[in-house]
Amino acid sequence: MKSIVVANWKMNPPSAKEARKLFDATKKIAAQAPAVSIVVAPPALYLNDLARGYRGTRIQFAAQHAHESDTGAHTGEISLAQVKDSGARQALIGHAERRALGETNEDTRKKVARALALKMTPILCVGERERSATGDHLAFVKEQVRAGLSDVSASALARVIVAYEPVWAIGAVSAMEPRQMHEMTIFIRKSIVEAYGERGHGVKILYGGAVDAENAPAMLTEGDVDGLLVGRASTDAAAFKALVLAIQNI
Ligand code: PGA
Repeated sequence: MKSIVVANWKMNPPSAKEARKLFDATKKIAAQAPAVSIVVAPPALYLNDLARGYRGTRIQFAAQHAHESDTGAHTGEISLAQVKDSGARQALIGHAERRALGETNEDTRKKVARALALKMTPILCVGERERSATGDHLAFVKEQVRAGLSDVSASALARVIVAYEPVWAIGAVSAMEPRQMHEMTIFIRKSIVEAYGERGHGVKILYGGAVDAENAPAMLTEGDVDGLLVGRASTDAAAFKALVLAIQNI
């Protein structure tokens, strides 16, 4: 099965010209790695231009954040319907940096449901702020998963992706240990299976947080994830190329 790599550009690069340059480099990388499914999440401002100008099939586009209402009095917001119209087929929902700005589990529930209704793929981001010796972080993640998926029917479940990103690893020097991720993959899958039965096994799980070319292969094999959510290493063409090529034969 193809590994998924979501390139979360966040608020980078600083101009449309540089965004185009980074995307051109990303296209070349995608051409060299047919076994990797690449999803680019550019700033919304660049999405329309990049997606409409793209004639290939290797790369898909995702929104980094979007509103569940199609239209309305929401100054500064962009809707899931609008990003879909601009070419996004996927949407990050509840990224830790959005949750830090006030996004709640209830918001993620609405956005996941709206994305599915629009035939988009929601990438529900979950992850604890810190680990606790008593296992509180497990209950915290379980609740994020439960709440985000609470309006998802069993038949739509296979279209959902869950991205586990421990907040303490985002932007950090090192990623989580693949062995620890393996435990988390089992835990998240078990939580979904408890709610949905066997269909829960079909949900794809990604890892995010300080992913690079060095740690990516072990994260996929030992961490047992279906893909990676990549921040910093996705906005540096050389680092992204090294990462994608490192996993293309896994
Ligand atoms: P990072 O970010 O790869 O720069 O740690 C990951 C993310 O926030 O998605």
